[in-house]
Amino acid sequence: MLIQLKNITKEYDNSSAAVTKVLRGISLDVEEGEFLAIMGPSGSGKSTLMHIIGFLDRSTAGTYLFDGENIEEFTDDELARIRNERIGFVFQSFNLLARTSVLDNVILPLTYSKMKDHVALATKALEAVGLSNRLNFLSNQISGGQKQRVAIARALVCNPKVIFADEPTGNLDSKSGTTVMSILGRLNDEGRTIILVTHDRTVAEHAHRIITIRDGSIVSDEKNANPKKSEMIEEES
Ligand SMILES: Nc1ncnc2c1ncn2[C@@H]1O[C@H](COP(=O)(O)OP(=O)(O)OP(=O)(O)O)[C@@H](O)[C@H]1O
Ligand SMILES: [Mg+2]
Repeated sequence: MLIQLKNITKEYDNSSAAVTKVLRGISLDVEEGEFLAIMGPSGSGKSTLMHIIGFLDRSTAGTYLFDGENIEEFTDDELARIRNERIGFVFQSFNLLARTSVLDNVILPLTYSKMKDHVALATKALEAVGLSNRLNFLSNQISGGQKQRVAIARALVCNPKVIFADEPTGNLDSKSGTTVMSILGRLNDEGRTIILVTHDRTVAEHAHRIITIRDGSIVSDEKNANPKKSEMIEEES
């Protein structure tokens, strides 16, 4: 089992106001190679849960085993290292460095790793998202859909076990959104674990399993017997 959450809770204590309970006892197992979508209304705790699973935040209580290891026992520095080596993130707003080339954006995570051949690895990751001919464009000289593909290449470049995507199609038109989902689907076909957060049922239907969160609790956990299939991505000219 890649991810095992037992009774995870998250509370925010904002001194003046009352304690906010955001996650109320989440238990969830995710196997290596799954393509999981997390759905639920705004404010239900989806991003909070994803941040805890992705080591961007810690739970208030409960246990979390990642690849069999109890993450409570790791220091923040150790968690940051594991995050860089084994986890890739894709966000709704792309989070690319402005006025920096596409290639350098993808090289960045490699500079914190022990991996060598940064240019070759980044070029290969950009090929995998169909952007070989945008390597030297600045990140503000490409379209939103292309930016998200750069963000996927950046998430991919350290060869992580898991890719987390929080509303990756939220700022995209439907065609670019479809391309992004087909890339995530293909990465999953290649064996990578994908955890996707989305409001959008049609986006979630690319996943093989869909869980729904409401008010900090998992209210359903369904298999998707017939996940939407990826279309081929077009190479930009
Ligand atoms: N630092 C914080 N302090 C207090 N409450 C917080 C904090 N961060 C998040 N929350 C609360 O936690 C709840 C869940 O937030 P979260 O961002 O996980 O929701 P979400 O399901 O991702 O919503 P959306 O679909 O709008 O992105 C919200 O009610 C939010 O106000
Ligand atoms: Mg959110």
